[in-house]
Amino acid sequence: MKRVRKCVFPVAGMGSRFLPATKASPKEMMPIVDKPLIQYAVEEAVAAGMTDMIFITGRNKRTIEDHFDKAYEVEAELAARGKRELLELVQNIVPARVNCIYIRQPEALGLGHAVLCAEPVVNDEPFAVILADDLIDAETPVIKQMAQVYAERQCSLLGVEEVPRENTRQYGIVKTDGGEPGVVSAMVEKPAPKDAPSTLAVVGRYILNPRIFHHLAQVQAGAGGEIQLTDGIAALMREEKVLAYRFKGMRYDCGSKLGYLQAMVAYGKKHSEVGAAFTAYLESL
Ligand code: G1P
Repeated sequence: MKRVRKCVFPVAGMGSRFLPATKASPKEMMPIVDKPLIQYAVEEAVAAGMTDMIFITGRNKRTIEDHFDKAYEVEAELAARGKRELLELVQNIVPARVNCIYIRQPEALGLGHAVLCAEPVVNDEPFAVILADDLIDAETPVIKQMAQVYAERQCSLLGVEEVPRENTRQYGIVKTDGGEPGVVSAMVEKPAPKDAPSTLAVVGRYILNPRIFHHLAQVQAGAGGEIQLTDGIAALMREEKVLAYRFKGMRYDCGSKLGYLQAMVAYGKKHSEVGAAFTAYLESL
């Protein structure tokens, strides 16, 4: 029985949809209320018992490394001012048992290429992939739900949800046999609505068997001229079972301005410090 211990976070993307905010700082560091998107993603993996966080980074992404590292000046300053709660907050961003590993992706060649960059660290183990842009509010963190299914089925798994047909161009779209989790029989990256095999979209949660690396190494540039993870998975699916899992949770597409704002409102309303006042403010509008 294999357990998922490693999680890959592709964070090398440029974040062009949020320019100028992302001109000099990573989109993954944009906060929802007071926590950056990448921290929500890491907390999800930690909650699922994963211990190795593998970030595929690029230029302009140094603040992600700093965020998960010790911050001497901030900590010394908070200690000197007796701000214990804040000190604990910055010291406990990741538990001590968790390793943060950084790999540079020299060129943004696509999500499939980013995942392939993790091979030397993942080796021959199943692993998770979380796209921090897809923030999912769930009672049981989604990657934990998926790790539980993996523990039983030992098959690669894709987190999926229904999307409106007019939006298929934004996603990898799968066709399944209808089971739950369903066996994936086709997968296409960003099809036009008329060509989409269904309206079941892959959102940013994956658990993959290491055999995916073999396929990613062979994949040619596909949609958008990029090496697509979707094409690697489509090849894997011809060799072994890949399952589509309908997660329980509310997803916010924080790669888009509208989704980001919706997440800010939802998380703002339930925030322990400002939630009540923010809710009252919204109602007063
Ligand atoms: C990526 C994947 C796509 C997936 C999506 C989920 O696309 O290539 O298959 O459906 O993430 O957010 P991107 O949003 O990076 O263009």
